Amino acid sequence: MSLKKAYENYFKIGTSVSRYDMKSDKAMEELVKHYNSMTAENDMKPMFMMDKEATLADPEKYYLQPVMKYDTARKYLEFAKKNGIALRGHTLGWHNQTPIWFFKENFEDDFEAPWASRETMLARLEWYIKSVLTFVQTEYPGVIYAWDVVNEAIEERNEEGWRTRSPWYQTLGDEFVINAFRFARKYAAPEVKLYYNDYNTFNPFKRETILNYIVKPLMEEKLIDGIGMQSHLILNEWEKDITEYEKTLYAFGATGLDIQSTELDIHNADGSEEGMKKLADAYKKLFELYVKAKKEGKANITCVTFWGMKDDVSWLTGFRRERSYPLLFGDNWEEKEAYHAVVAVAEN
Ligand code: GLA
Repeated sequence: MSLKKAYENYFKIGTSVSRYDMKSDKAMEELVKHYNSMTAENDMKPMFMMDKEATLADPEKYYLQPVMKYDTARKYLEFAKKNGIALRGHTLGWHNQTPIWFFKENFEDDFEAPWASRETMLARLEWYIKSVLTFVQTEYPGVIYAWDVVNEAIEERNEEGWRTRSPWYQTLGDEFVINAFRFARKYAAPEVKLYYNDYNTFNPFKRETILNYIVKPLMEEKLIDGIGMQSHLILNEWEKDITEYEKTLYAFGATGLDIQSTELDIHNADGSEEGMKKLADAYKKLFELYVKAKKEGKANITCVTFWGMKDDVSWLTGFRRERSYPLLFGDNWEEKEAYHAVVAVAEN
């Protein structure tokens, strides 16, 4: 049995793929076996798509149109194309992993240096989105089926709702999101789905703010096709969060847009048998929720993507500063209890 086969009647099963995975034959074998969607963990983010040195070689010439480079992205596009795996584009507009010089009047790598003007940033935003979409659609038509057009523009800790410290907010304010989607719609092939993606979407304030500030205005202009719930979850908090998570899934689902779980993992520092049992139970409940929502037409879930294939390569160990065992496969690719629990949900 494979994950993608188990869920073929419901939704795609995806995973993030890192550059280290790309060099491992075993990882590539598992990728092809279990998944029919993939997301580059890092290599298609803006910091890897622009060439600072080449841009700075002639800053006047490249003032509105920084030099692009596609060598890192190309590897994922090639692999996805060759193996018939649908690729999620991640991500076009984000405050993180986008070089700070891109936002600056004189391309300084310094947060304090003067920001470029609104007009300049609108032009650079259009240029960036146009360039990336034109490249992938010309050289790899049909490979990317969805783009995270904007990632994480809303903050639950900020009364404003908007992520105001983001360089995008600093330069374009609340006009950033709608413009990013206008440009994406303008240049994306008609079949490519445009997503807004964010984390902790189970937070009630965040859920409402995303619906009101982002989804509603984008839907009015028919600019958005889907909402991504990142779903970086925490095992110890899961019992408490699942009710709100379910509410968000239904509230987002009620918009009629496609819904994806885009970066699923459940942080868990307890690698014991008991810890693994708890993890399996959490995954079971989560997948039961996904399947129920899909079956009952409450959320058109089109893909669930895991953020990593096996425990020892998960970003969570670094991020949480404790060893994490958050995924379906163990360090040696062994199928964990959580794997069997997830497969069993589809079979019942
Ligand atoms: C966010 C981003 C992802 C990734 C994770 C951490 O969720 O969307 O691209 O960087 O953080 O690994």
